[in-house]
Amino acid sequence: MGKALIIGAGGVGNVVAHKCCQVPEVFEEICIASRTLSKCEDIKNRIGNTKTKVHTARVDADNTREVVELINSFKPDIVINVALPYQDLTIMDACLETGVHYLDTANYEPPDVPKFEYKWQWAYRERYEQKGITAILGCGFDPGVTGVFSAYAQKHYFDEIHYIDILDCNAGDHGYPFATNFNPEINIREVTAKGRYYENGQWIETEPLEIKRVYDFPQIGPRNMYLLYHEELESLAVNIKGVKRIRFWMTFSDSYLTHLRVLQNVGMTSIEPVEFEGKKIIPLQFLKALLPDPASLGPRTKGKTNIGCIFQGVKDGKPRTYYVYNVCDHQEAYREVGSQAVSYTTGVPAMIGAMMLIKGLWKKPGVYNVEEFDPDPFMDALNKYGLPWHEDFSPVLVD
Ligand SMILES: NC(=O)c1ccc[n+]([C@@H]2O[C@H](COP(=O)([O-])OP(=O)(O)OC[C@H]3O[C@@H](n4cnc5c(N)ncnc54)[C@H](OP(=O)(O)O)[C@@H]3O)[C@@H](O)[C@H]2O)c1
Repeated sequence: MGKALIIGAGGVGNVVAHKCCQVPEVFEEICIASRTLSKCEDIKNRIGNTKTKVHTARVDADNTREVVELINSFKPDIVINVALPYQDLTIMDACLETGVHYLDTANYEPPDVPKFEYKWQWAYRERYEQKGITAILGCGFDPGVTGVFSAYAQKHYFDEIHYIDILDCNAGDHGYPFATNFNPEINIREVTAKGRYYENGQWIETEPLEIKRVYDFPQIGPRNMYLLYHEELESLAVNIKGVKRIRFWMTFSDSYLTHLRVLQNVGMTSIEPVEFEGKKIIPLQFLKALLPDPASLGPRTKGKTNIGCIFQGVKDGKPRTYYVYNVCDHQEAYREVGSQAVSYTTGVPAMIGAMMLIKGLWKKPGVYNVEEFDPDPFMDALNKYGLPWHEDFSPVLVD
């Protein structure tokens, strides 16, 4: 039925490739391409025998010409970008030039400014429309499934959604004193940034990790969670009409936060270059080199993740609340595809989004966030391909 070019061979790329091969009737051929060819070949070897034909290639996705050449030689229907957010625009340019659909899981961030916003990618709307191709933005779990959950709640359970709380709990334990579950640079930049949430048409800024709550997560138990800014808040504030407040919460252990505070206090999380023995180095990139590779955490990580959304609003004139969430087990994910749950919960939705596009269910020219498509076939696919969801119509609310 279709061909997908997967760019990025980290934890998430590994999951996307494995999951595509579980649906060979949709993904007849895939090409795993990344800066380091050996990582692509390792994934291909781990997948082993499969009906899907698996290719590998080396590409520097910072260079649009290289991506264009690879697209022209492999001729995919879609490019699944699971490299880093820094490559979003160069890959979008290559898709535009070659007329190939695009999907990613994280919005563009300039390498030298710790700021992520959709404005750079939304600016491609008209050009994608004119070219007749689709870009699906932010199709991991959060962003991604959280947007699909919002569209599903809106479609089936509410006339108006007034409040959304997105709750992301990772209760996994990898046994290291300090490590990040996905790309350390992206992760630390996210956590050390100021918090922000949307209320009554305005963005309210907080100090980093200033607002804390305790929530008793189903299948996990009580955890400390902190208000963060997260990219889906920007698109949901636009796409969920009438919403009054949207907040995003993520859990962190005391030990993780203590390590982070120390690293920050000594300047190790800075992205400002410093002179070291005659060479300019960026402290955060140096720290990344010291920390365990997130892909290596898989075999050691035990426990579960729980990510979901609590909605409050009105249906038929009556107040209603609705909580929808997925629980994913790190070790089960590792047994299935060789990556822990954080990569798994990102890679499965990316595969499903690409499948929606190849099947023609999520295909419309332009640049879209996931909540702008019909959520129903995606929700069915989550149950089928490893991320089943649960519903609660009287959840404990976040105050
Ligand atoms: N939406 C969500 O729920 C969610 C959750 C987690 C992560 N994410 C996103 O998922 C993406 C992948 O995360 P990950 O944990 O898999 O990261 P990762 O383990 O660091 O892997 C990133 C991969 O991209 C490759 N890459 C980097 N720069 C490249 C370039 N210029 N050209 C070609 N390949 C390049 C890397 O190659 P090298 O090995 O050669 O460096 C590596 O294979 C990130 O954008 C992250 O923000 C989204």
